[in-house]
Amino acid sequence: MSSEDPTTQQAFDEEAIAAGNFALGIDHEKVERETDALLAKMTAAQKRNEIRGLQPRPIDGLFHAGGDESLGLARWKMVDGPRGARAGTATAFPVAIARAASFDVDLERRVGLAIGLEVAARGGNVLLAPTINLLRHPGWGRSQETYSEDPHHTGAMGFAFVCGAQNFVLTSPKHFALNNLENTRFELSAEIDLRALREVYLPHFRRCVVGAGAASVMSAYNKMNGVYCGENVELLQTILREEWGFRGFVESDWFLGARSTADSLNAGLDIEMPAPFRYADDKLDEAVAKGDLDEATIERGARRSIYQKVAWQLGENEIAGKQRPDESVVECEEHVLLAREAALKSIVLLKNEGEVLPLEAREGLSIAVVGDLATIANLGDRGSSMVTPSSVSKPLEAIVAAAGSASVEHFESHVDLSRLAEFDVTVVVAGLTYRDEGEFIPTAQQDAEETEFAKGGDRADLALPLEQRDLIERAAAAAQRTIVVLQGGSAIIMRDWIDRVDAVLISWYGGQEGGRALAQILFGEQSPSGRLPISIPRQMSDFMPWDVTSLSVHHDLRPGYRWLDHHQHAAEFPFGFGLGYTRFDVDDLRVERVERGFRCRVTVSNAGSRRGATIVQLYVGQSQSRVDRVEKELKGFGRVELDPAETIDLEFRLLDEDLRFYDADAGAWELETCGYEIRVGQSSQDLPLSSRWRFGDAGWIAE
Ligand code: BGC
Repeated sequence: MSSEDPTTQQAFDEEAIAAGNFALGIDHEKVERETDALLAKMTAAQKRNEIRGLQPRPIDGLFHAGGDESLGLARWKMVDGPRGARAGTATAFPVAIARAASFDVDLERRVGLAIGLEVAARGGNVLLAPTINLLRHPGWGRSQETYSEDPHHTGAMGFAFVCGAQNFVLTSPKHFALNNLENTRFELSAEIDLRALREVYLPHFRRCVVGAGAASVMSAYNKMNGVYCGENVELLQTILREEWGFRGFVESDWFLGARSTADSLNAGLDIEMPAPFRYADDKLDEAVAKGDLDEATIERGARRSIYQKVAWQLGENEIAGKQRPDESVVECEEHVLLAREAALKSIVLLKNEGEVLPLEAREGLSIAVVGDLATIANLGDRGSSMVTPSSVSKPLEAIVAAAGSASVEHFESHVDLSRLAEFDVTVVVAGLTYRDEGEFIPTAQQDAEETEFAKGGDRADLALPLEQRDLIERAAAAAQRTIVVLQGGSAIIMRDWIDRVDAVLISWYGGQEGGRALAQILFGEQSPSGRLPISIPRQMSDFMPWDVTSLSVHHDLRPGYRWLDHHQHAAEFPFGFGLGYTRFDVDDLRVERVERGFRCRVTVSNAGSRRGATIVQLYVGQSQSRVDRVEKELKGFGRVELDPAETIDLEFRLLDEDLRFYDADAGAWELETCGYEIRVGQSSQDLPLSSRWRFGDAGWIAE
């Protein structure tokens, strides 16, 4: 098979991923002219109306903003979110961090496409997603909404999602920026220097805005270096507008996102959501009267909103040159199957001692399924990213359905587990729920029916809750062989029990098809192919200090594996790691100079006896640098799916510009004269292939 075959490899192909993204075809000069003409007809009151949401509560899941019938201007109708449309019922996809584990950018494009289509069918035109805040620490309650601890990976997935969704609706990557601790999000200040900001915490935003043409951006609640993100000139003006050339609008995060009237508008927070608090007429009048704000700045906000309405050809039932799709697309068979594919590709097999997996659905095999989580719909948090599907496949019922002639018995969490010794194998379904992690929403802002569920927030401790640990330990003590299936949205520390169990799978919050996907993996219908988009440390102290009450958090160059590398802490399971039921060889790294970069090729072969997939990963590190450089950083990855004995060549393009560091003193990116090592393998800790280069006065020289 050729390396171009999309079913066998998916090294990042920007053009294919970008296809159909409406934003990339906009004729900006024409839109400018039409926007000017519209603005010239508008009164001050009409302009003011464009810069604020209509009311605090959504209408059928849609948050309305702006719009004026007499001018033919439709309203913005904004809908959450990152794992599906939060409007009525909708397809519940696995949470973003689960999809991130697929490392499958084309899959993420198709998920974005499906969510965008369902949002449009529900009457929405702005999708409040993707969440692309870098996962600085896995205790962050909203880890599940984002993609990973790595900016290259987050950027690739975010780019794909935006491109897919923008076939139908505007997207709004969020929360700009540095929103990565939930409990104190309304007050905390993310402290960061210019270099860490540019190199680690913003590249993925840049990729969504510059590369994918994200049509809007949501600002963050928190502060950056003491200034609220919604009032932050450096973020909203200097970086977003002047450096990245962003033409869309910035809307506030909800309720406490706009902290002021004049400072917010002056900084470039264009639209206050979900309702006029700071941007109400009396507040605007007062700010103008005091001389803190002028009408031209209000008009600028309105202009940015109208610009996108013109660009996207927004009508009451039209957008992006298309009629609003029929509601029959919502939870259609294709989307449900896509949710299954995403769930399947997201499951990560971390341990498989004695090849206890896959199970055989055969007569005589007895399987115990343990734990209450096996029987409930565990879809993730119940904050703004919550999605309600019309049905959910749960682990126990899916295991029973897939078990064929094997027998299955369920044990609830609280019962005596000593009988497990009678069973050939025990599957413990354990983990976290919305009560343990998620968006934390103050009770006053909740829907009545959601109030009692609104726990969430950050995890102070990365271990499982005590009763879940106890469940695993009781099961492992009694069972012949123990397989642990972990549900959750981030890293879970396993040190105290991992050596006592035979197999561990992470199935995340797997969406409405999660149960069926799990059963397919357990019974070997598919080989697991997910890889960790986060590092799982052995103990909390292996990572940076983590305090969920903190009001000031220092951000440096080293979240995730960068931290573990630097401090020489071996991970329990490293970033990029995952097993399958087959084995892959990656050999023969060939690196050659091409214009403005490198062409890197490797040969990948399935050396096992089953069809499966691996993720080939390319990292770069520096030597003899004059500044502090991170030990190594992910710069490319490709998903390869092969039959036994099949071999393909996988190619990566590495650009010189991706090898630069940000020189904060010069305020510029610099390609340093130093040594560079390109390393390739199948996880951040398994990089056997290497190619060394030096950049100097004579250009690039292989070493
Ligand atoms: C969240 C956003 C979300 C918004 C609207 C906020 O509290 O932080 O991510 O899009 O609510 O639901």
